[in-house]
Amino acid sequence: MRILVTGGAGFIGSHIADALLGDGHEVAVVDDLSSGRRENVPGGATFFEGDIRDGAFVDRVFDEFGPQQVSHQAAQTSVSVSTREPGRDAEINVLGTINLLDASARTKLERFVFASTGGAIYGEVADGERARVGWPPRPLSPYACSKLAAEHYLEAYNYERGLDYRVVRYANVYGPRQDPHGEAGVVAIFSQRLLAGESLQINARKEVGDEGCVRDYVYVADCVRANLLALGGKLGEPIVNVCTGEGCTTQALALKLAEAIGMEPELRHADRRAGDVERSVLDGGDFLGAHPPTPLATGLAETVEWFRQRG
Ligand SMILES: NC(=O)c1ccc[n+]([C@@H]2O[C@H](COP(=O)([O-])OP(=O)(O)OC[C@H]3O[C@@H](n4cnc5c(N)ncnc54)[C@H](O)[C@@H]3O)[C@@H](O)[C@H]2O)c1
Repeated sequence: MRILVTGGAGFIGSHIADALLGDGHEVAVVDDLSSGRRENVPGGATFFEGDIRDGAFVDRVFDEFGPQQVSHQAAQTSVSVSTREPGRDAEINVLGTINLLDASARTKLERFVFASTGGAIYGEVADGERARVGWPPRPLSPYACSKLAAEHYLEAYNYERGLDYRVVRYANVYGPRQDPHGEAGVVAIFSQRLLAGESLQINARKEVGDEGCVRDYVYVADCVRANLLALGGKLGEPIVNVCTGEGCTTQALALKLAEAIGMEPELRHADRRAGDVERSVLDGGDFLGAHPPTPLATGLAETVEWFRQRG
């Protein structure tokens, strides 16, 4: 298969590109390197540097590479940036996605897989509950709105133009290659800080001093597997949550990471961060039952080891 991975210079996309090449596929990567890194693009992949907002560029990629399938990971990925610049977020996540859908429908693509967000689309998930795919979405940020809009466009392109699609709604993804310098990606940020002997900040869930927000931390390898199954038409459902189904507070995460490194963490407690949902835990349904996730301790140990080796 010839498979196009958008955002393949980024964290999750580069792992997907690696795995597809390992399975013997022909892979091309599209990325504008706005947050991705050239060195993340695997050597065996054809690299098209450019912006998915540029429809002519997208058309050229489709005409030159002739993808049969697409794994669409490129996005403006930051909730806080989306709050500050909702227009730019929508240009990339909605209009950029439409450019890819147009090219996909025009070239009769076999399957389009879209990276969506289970962490943001459902809004607050009450204690004791897990958000199911069938829940009414409650997007509370421009980022969640743009991702949900793209999901609706997929459905429309399927209805109008017969484009086959799958949606993988990731929980909070962590693993090697995640950027430790952003505002999100707490596992990467904490790993880097712990290895440098620095303290960790626990932003409050409600009040300063509590254990912080609750998240469902899923290992990047589990997202890669979901994409491979989706591309192969083996997902079962058109939309799945890619998650562990387990909640973990920021403080518990800090302690687990410190344990993986073998040190005592110094914790600082700070205010609640505007825009953060308090709790997000997903229900992986039958998909999760059939594909048990990587245990958190295993994923954290592998992530810490990667950051350690990278220095
Ligand atoms: N990391 C998570 O926890 C998480 C959770 C839910 C959903 N997602 C989704 O997964 C996908 C991958 O996220 P990631 O964590 O690997 O982020 P990332 O920032 O590492 O990867 C995104 C990639 O897209 C590229 N990109 C951004 N704008 C572009 C544009 N206009 N044209 C071309 N390329 C562009 C970036 O350079 C980057 O390489 C995104 O769609 C994101 O919304 C991520």
